[in-house]
Amino acid sequence: MDTPNQGSPAYTHATYAHIIGWGMAVPDKVMTNDDLSAFVDTNDEWIVSRTGIRERRIASEKESTATLALKAAQRALEVADILPIELDMIIVATSTAEYVFPSTASIVQNWLGASRAGAFDMSAACSGFVYGVNMAAQAIRSRSIQTALVIGSETMSRILDWQDRSTCILFGDGAGAVVMRASTVPGGVLSSVLRSDGAGWDVLCVPSVGSRDLDGSEIQPNGHTPFRMFMDGPEVFKFATRVFNDSVSQAVSDAGLTLDDIKLIVPHQANLRIISSAARSLKMDESRFMVNLDRYGNTSAASIPIALTEAVQQGRIAENDYIVFVGFGGGLAWGSMVVKWGAPKPKEEERALLKSQRRQLSYSLATLRSRWRRWIKSINEFFARLSPARGRMARLRDRVDKL
Ligand code: UT7
Repeated sequence: MDTPNQGSPAYTHATYAHIIGWGMAVPDKVMTNDDLSAFVDTNDEWIVSRTGIRERRIASEKESTATLALKAAQRALEVADILPIELDMIIVATSTAEYVFPSTASIVQNWLGASRAGAFDMSAACSGFVYGVNMAAQAIRSRSIQTALVIGSETMSRILDWQDRSTCILFGDGAGAVVMRASTVPGGVLSSVLRSDGAGWDVLCVPSVGSRDLDGSEIQPNGHTPFRMFMDGPEVFKFATRVFNDSVSQAVSDAGLTLDDIKLIVPHQANLRIISSAARSLKMDESRFMVNLDRYGNTSAASIPIALTEAVQQGRIAENDYIVFVGFGGGLAWGSMVVKWGAPKPKEEERALLKSQRRQLSYSLATLRSRWRRWIKSINEFFARLSPARGRMARLRDRVDKL
């Protein structure tokens, strides 16, 4: 392994983890509160007054957690103006992964053609994005990696009980992503506070294949159903309002700042009443909180990067601003982090165009490589079916292919 010489930049400068790219993707299909009231006993007035949500996006049959994640990632790479090959790590924070395994991150890694990146999913429910950014920042600051892609992506519509009016009205589908990169310029992720209280595991959960919570029958005595979300709303509400302020205050003081220094809080978009209550107890004007849950509902791990992307697009964050991310949800788990914003360097037109074309080429080559591998596999399977002898030949060819 190459070791930098004493006195080289790697030794003389601290490394900071900056956000240099951002992007989001939401399905086209809009479901309004009135649409919901057509099939579940609810109404627009109740939903708006109790949550602030007016509409949410719902994935089409062709969309999935991975396809939304890919689109958000491509947009973030575009803003960062880097190539997929430059990525060292891809993290997808999600509660609606494509598979139990492989990770959704590995699927995105393949589609991007990010052939130098490690990839894994992060399971921390609605706090997953904050956890993921923290993991990436740690890896960057310790210099084990240079560049990371952190995505929050969800298709919550696939795990909702559409007959349960207390949960199905809250959630929506979407994805948001950031590119993070090492820099010697002070800033980026300044502090993180990650916490969990697993005693509250059952107030918000989705039982999966390995659950000791299930006895094999469809409907469980405790109200938990495989792959369907269960939430005790009022309990989660109390938890969220309890932890929000403490964790934000802790992260801000760990960064050596006060709340007055913070330009914008980008919170998990669960319920406007939670955000308003936090604003009151932190004694901050509500205009200093980014809110877009009225249009997307609660998109779980995707809500913070989606809100961040819109905040940047609306010009609400400028270079050197201090901003806070705060997430809370299933686990129970929560997390806050302070980021000093640093805008990416301006693009050189020609170079940017060239890089854009190289990114497109990377995506096309990744698709071709994937198809090629599947094609070779099906040819080998065809030969294997012809006869045992030919099967042996095919297996031999397979081994030779792998050499
Ligand atoms: O992302 C993870 C984090 N999740 C959260 O932060 C969610 C936190 N929880 C909440 O946002 C709120 O608890 C909810 C929005 C889920 C519920 O609001 P609430 O004010 O706590 O209502 P509630 O559950 O106490 O229910 C009050 C009443 C009940 O009727 P009764 O028993 O008083 O007659 C419910 O049946 O409202 C009724 N209700 C509804 N009515 C019309 C519950 N859901 C609905 C609905 N439409 N969709």
